[in-house]
Amino acid sequence: MREHESFTGESMLKRQKIESVSFQKKDTFCLLFMILLLFVLCIMCYTVYSDSFSSWESVQLDLQYEEYFRTNETSPPPTYRVHPKPTVTPNDTNSTTNPPPTTPPGPQYHVAFPKNYHFILDQADACKLRPPFLVLMVPVAPNNVEARNAIRQTWGKSGEFQGEVVLTLFILGLSGQADVEKQQEKIQHENLQHQDLILSDFIDSYFNLTIKTMVMMDWLATHCSNAAYAMKIDTDMFLNVDNLVNMLKKPELPKVNYLTGVLVKDGIVVRKKSSKWYVSKEVYPHPTYPLYAEGPGYAFSNDLPGKFVEISKTVKPVNIEDAYIGMCMKKLGLSPSSPPGPSLFNGHHGAYNRCAFSKIITSVLNSLQELVKFWTDLKKPGPPCENKTNS
Ligand SMILES: *[C@@H]1O[C@H](CO)[C@@H](O)[C@H](O)[C@H]1NC(C)=O
Ligand SMILES: *[C@@H]1O[C@H](CO)[C@@H](O)[C@H](O)[C@H]1NC(C)=O
Ligand SMILES: *[C@@H]1O[C@H](CO)[C@@H](O)[C@H](O)[C@H]1NC(C)=O
Ligand SMILES: *[C@@H]1O[C@H](CO)[C@@H](O)[C@H](O)[C@H]1NC(C)=O
Ligand SMILES: *[C@@H]1O[C@H](CO)[C@@H](O)[C@H](O)[C@H]1NC(C)=O
Repeated sequence: MREHESFTGESMLKRQKIESVSFQKKDTFCLLFMILLLFVLCIMCYTVYSDSFSSWESVQLDLQYEEYFRTNETSPPPTYRVHPKPTVTPNDTNSTTNPPPTTPPGPQYHVAFPKNYHFILDQADACKLRPPFLVLMVPVAPNNVEARNAIRQTWGKSGEFQGEVVLTLFILGLSGQADVEKQQEKIQHENLQHQDLILSDFIDSYFNLTIKTMVMMDWLATHCSNAAYAMKIDTDMFLNVDNLVNMLKKPELPKVNYLTGVLVKDGIVVRKKSSKWYVSKEVYPHPTYPLYAEGPGYAFSNDLPGKFVEISKTVKPVNIEDAYIGMCMKKLGLSPSSPPGPSLFNGHHGAYNRCAFSKIITSVLNSLQELVKFWTDLKKPGPPCENKTNS
């Protein structure tokens, strides 16, 4: 207490001294006051400005997607296009194998246009050796070896299901981390062993999922057009491949322009800036998305990838990959189809039950351990469903 009193006493003294000094030097005081006022004003301005954004991250996302929508064939933005369109020299146009693509009229969008990216690993022969009936395309983070291994020993075991060739491939972008070269080496090594990695030169991040999906579509169109069907499926999914093949083999199932999965009708566009699904009104002005199939697992006829790649030049990209595919379908005058049976494609199907899982096609899982456990149980000998009447 006393120390405090003496302290205030001292500062009172100081203040008196300062006051007497400034009284004498009135001009200096005025100048100091002006500087202080300016400083306070600056701080106020800054506070107001930074309050209008929920986080720095969302500002960055905003800027990136503004670039998306500004992108234009006649005036390409110099900043965002990390991987510019491959430059066609006049001499190249001479080539007969690669005629210059004819671009449709209207604004052009490059960020999600997959030809802007290049395959580092492309599995060029994967579909040539044994033309697959179905290709399972699995987007996965470059460093997620555990997921790839779990899938390789469960639903991703490439081979025959119901008498049809099924091929599973993983699609990866470049790691954004510092140890890129080390990561690359690991990936190359893993690929030598399994020959199932497709690596493209975009930066693999959640924000870039639309790019990843479009690169996947480009690969299907250019390297695997002889497959009948394909499926995009995430690593956290359970997939009953036999049921999927049986569904696709049904004669009444459309062979072209077909896409199915868990459909989302009138999906609300998220406008909350802190959400990872945030999309600004400038990027996508409508309050809802067109009908689309949820990203974790959708199956489609393999004529569609080429059509998506072409149309993507004219569909303004959003970072919501599944909604973007819905937008491409709409622009093509197509629409996703409901699965040909109830409860085939699921979000969370509910607790594991051998009989139930023997009838579904997809369900979201909580862990890779679950995947291996459920798969092993489902595949064990014996009928999956007990006879209720047999008591
Ligand atoms: C595209 O470029 C042309 C020519 O530079 C310009 O007039 C037009 O406004 C641009 N469009 C967009 C959407 O930026
Ligand atoms: C164009 O192609 C022809 C035949 O393929 C070739 O002889 C000629 O050298 C090429 N011209 C250029 C400029 O590359
Ligand atoms: C393109 O072709 C012209 C002649 O047709 C030649 O002089 C020039 O060197 C070529 N450029 C390249 C990059 O090949
Ligand atoms: C991908 O995403 C990251 C950050 O999320 C960004 O820095 C990068 O430029 C994006 N685009 C490409 C083409 O890699
Ligand atoms: C059990 O079900 C199978 C078909 O699911 C049937 O073929 C079999 O006859 C049934 N067994 C008994 C004892 O009911």
